[in-house]
Amino acid sequence: MTKPPILVVEDDSSVRTTITTFLELEGYTVDAVASTGAAIEKLAGHSYPLVLSDIYIDERTGLDVLNAAKKSNPACAVIMMTGRGTMETVMAATRGGAFDYIAKPFDLDTLLETVRKAEASMAPAEDEDDDDEVLPSSEMIGSSAEMVQIYKTISRVAPTDATVMIEGETGTGKEMIARMIHHNSPRAAHPFVPVDCGSIPASLLESELFGAMRGSYTGADRDRVGVFEAAHRGTVFLDEIGDIDGTFQLKLLRFLQEKEVRPLGASKAKPVDVRIVAATNRDMKKLVDEGVFREDLWFRLNVVPLQLPPLRERRGDVALLARTFLRRYNDRYHQTTVLLDSGLRALEDYTWPGNVRQLQHMVERLSILAPQGRISDEAVRDAIADSQFNEADGETLAETEKEQIRRVMAAANNNKSRAAKILGIERKTLYRKLEKMGLS
Ligand SMILES: Nc1ncnc2c1ncn2[C@@H]1O[C@H](COP(=O)(O)OP(=O)(O)OP(=O)(O)O)[C@@H](O)[C@H]1O
Ligand SMILES: [Mg+2]
Repeated sequence: MTKPPILVVEDDSSVRTTITTFLELEGYTVDAVASTGAAIEKLAGHSYPLVLSDIYIDERTGLDVLNAAKKSNPACAVIMMTGRGTMETVMAATRGGAFDYIAKPFDLDTLLETVRKAEASMAPAEDEDDDDEVLPSSEMIGSSAEMVQIYKTISRVAPTDATVMIEGETGTGKEMIARMIHHNSPRAAHPFVPVDCGSIPASLLESELFGAMRGSYTGADRDRVGVFEAAHRGTVFLDEIGDIDGTFQLKLLRFLQEKEVRPLGASKAKPVDVRIVAATNRDMKKLVDEGVFREDLWFRLNVVPLQLPPLRERRGDVALLARTFLRRYNDRYHQTTVLLDSGLRALEDYTWPGNVRQLQHMVERLSILAPQGRISDEAVRDAIADSQFNEADGETLAETEKEQIRRVMAAANNNKSRAAKILGIERKTLYRKLEKMGLS
């Protein structure tokens, strides 16, 4: 069997030579280049089945190589070599479909093993058993320049104890980023505790976070451990931080200064060791300017700011997100729905006010409902129109809608909350419709 040619992209010349020599001795044909630019040029004129690329090469990254490789040959197996820290691993795993990644320094046997695995994956498979190609759903997807910048920042701050402030519209992945920071920090083995500051009444926030002694307020029938104490040595994620009131802002400020908690009704304070990651979808600068949010607290929180761009400002990620989600839902619902080019263009054209979350739901819905299992531009436009479905004209229940509801209910195993989500309607609306259909 002839071995496929391999493109090696590596800026360190000694590493490049070692890999090249080794692979050539193993009988491969190797083209080696030292820069992203040279790699992309090669890929434009030549379709490689296998590419081996460093992640950080120059001002552009291995992800640019990955994109170019996939563009010239969608079946191309790209192996990423990662050098620094742990985040590269995450980034590589965030892959625009990278086959695998190996951490440097690696031994040549590991390299060979990975290359062979990639080769084996290229052999025409009898059964479509590509389960382990499916990304775990906790993985951040996106390889646009904007996202790569975010990954880089995370890789630098995750290992530290610095407070991180994540700003971004709804559905841009703020909570995912917060978890990623935690998982890539030395605190990973300790708790990650999210607190939705926006939905906890101001009167309860204090005991929730700092704890309370038995009898300290009506209804406190036993001691209550606060989040900061429970998360000792871990990370506390303060979500919707822009929503906390003035009194609590002051308490939080004190806590950040002293790093100790005094539960309600307790006489003594105790030290706790937690890292804070906060997030908001409000315009914090404006809240500070208007005097709604304390500036001193803002400075304490905004040590490392992370601005998550809305999806419409990184449309390049739509294709990758849509394909990955489609694969996930095809798997889950045992379908083989395909995304047509026209469908992808329609997805890329949309403005996504609900960002990645909305795209994800839309793809889930399309995976089940696209006519003939083909997602065309028309299917996308219909789905978008339906998701903005106005309840006022919900009086006439068209046959097609009934059919949709039946299919979604079946795919969701009759789980009504799930079905409502896929249909993009409220659960009680679905109940009403099911009732009318005699299916409740
Ligand atoms: N880059 C991404 N890759 C994969 N999934 C993503 C990405 N960004 C967001 N998601 C998905 O979108 C949904 C929303 O993400 P998340 O909860 O992190 O957003 P958020 O910014 O906290 O939103 P909100 O402001 O509404 O709380 C999740 O289901 C998550 O899986
Ligand atoms: Mg959130």
